[in-house]
Amino acid sequence: MIIAVDGPAASGKGTIARALAKHFGLPWLDTGLLYSAVGIRVMRAGGNPDDPADALAAVNFDDALLDDPALRSEEAGRLASRVSVHAAVRAALAEHQRAFADRPGGAVIDGRDIGTVIAPGADAKLFVTASPEQRARRRHRDELSRNADADYDAILADIVERDRRDSERSASPLVRADDADLLDTSDLTISAAVRRAIELVEARKGKR
Ligand code: C5P
Repeated sequence: MIIAVDGPAASGKGTIARALAKHFGLPWLDTGLLYSAVGIRVMRAGGNPDDPADALAAVNFDDALLDDPALRSEEAGRLASRVSVHAAVRAALAEHQRAFADRPGGAVIDGRDIGTVIAPGADAKLFVTASPEQRARRRHRDELSRNADADYDAILADIVERDRRDSERSASPLVRADDADLLDTSDLTISAAVRRAIELVEARKGKR
């Protein structure tokens, strides 16, 4: 079974995808990490993430990089969002993602274009969302544990800007697939959101 989980930054899709993978006993791929790896490599090489050639030069990375904690930083997310607008970067990373989706037994894959481009035939598709303010509050809470000066307004502005870039790009923009189930986590606890996600996947299982 292939489960595609898409949605904007800080919607809860990563937490939900991880929980679905555990529940259904499937491997999980967080595709945001692939784009973050490219973004971090461009930065470390002194390149420009907005330049398609610099970004494309960074797509062949060693899998060990995916364990680098720097990939989970806010900065990596911002760089990822800039390199991910380039169609050639998306095409280069698509192969790895499709191979993961085609594993025998299936997989859970989360990102922005999984249900629309990478695995349009997925058995279940979730589009996980939440209001920008709620997502900023969650991210702010997380940040405060690392940085006492974390600024809510700056985080909200970053989320709004990231949504705009992800939704307006011409290459595989963030859109809900017609056959994706919407899961709005704005007013849900993590455990309630996970329970709902499992119910939605169960309802789709074996129907395609
Ligand atoms: O999922 P995460 O928020 O870590 O992704 C970071 C950025 O990578 C996103 O804002 C988006 O621009 C990009 N991305 C993408 N396509 C994916 C996964 C991530 O464009 N499948």
